[in-house]
Amino acid sequence: MNLILLGAPGSGKGTQAELIKKDFKLTHISTGDIFRANIKKNTPLGIKAKEYINEGMLVPDDLVIQLVADRLKQKDCLNGFILDGFPRTEFQADKLGEITKINAVINLDIDLKLLLERLSGRRVCNKCGSTNHINCIKTYLACSCGGSFIQREDDKEETVNDRFRVYEKQTKPLINYYKNKGNLINIEADKLVSEVYKDIKKALESL
Ligand code: AP5
Repeated sequence: MNLILLGAPGSGKGTQAELIKKDFKLTHISTGDIFRANIKKNTPLGIKAKEYINEGMLVPDDLVIQLVADRLKQKDCLNGFILDGFPRTEFQADKLGEITKINAVINLDIDLKLLLERLSGRRVCNKCGSTNHINCIKTYLACSCGGSFIQREDDKEETVNDRFRVYEKQTKPLINYYKNKGNLINIEADKLVSEVYKDIKKALESL
């Protein structure tokens, strides 16, 4: 099964992808995580991507499309994958359609007003990458793996607002794009993580 997770910044794509991956034995591909790993290692791709990510802008289509096309050729994608954060423009969606078949597109539907608090409170472990909210980690300073919780550069409030604007203009139209193709599953994402996942699981099991 090949899936896409669509949704605004902070809607829970990464969180839900990890749960789907375990139950359905799929490979989780997050373009945001790939860019962040490259930024950490200071690779040429990371240096280029950082300019855009830290401004809340999208990385240019040509860089992302090539990256995903190469990633999907790897062996671990043969039994199915979850694309988290790709496609983000109609051009990317068209190109993806030329590369592979997508079985379902899950749209995490949530009001943007609820997401600012989620994102500004998000903390990420600088070692294992696990994500948490400041309200849950304030009693302990380090991650169980020994790493430290830090704020993503693009989770600062002014950048989050830019990301929302980019989402509305460039990514939200993909909801109708996939609705018209007939494979969109709309999931209400303003619920507990476990409840959102329950709805996703039910929808995927009925495919
Ligand atoms: P990316 O990393 O994909 O960022 P994003 O889409 O903005 O999504 P986030 O990672 O911020 O949020 P999420 O939806 O995964 O939510 P999460 O589960 O973490 O991309 C970063 C940047 O890379 C982009 O801005 C762009 O510049 C570039 N990029 C990436 N892909 C690209 C592409 N295809 N084209 C061009 N550029 C690209 O949850 C968020 C928080 O909420 C967490 O703290 C979590 O614990 C919490 N949470 C999750 N679910 C719930 C819930 N149900 N209730 C309460 N809290 C919850």
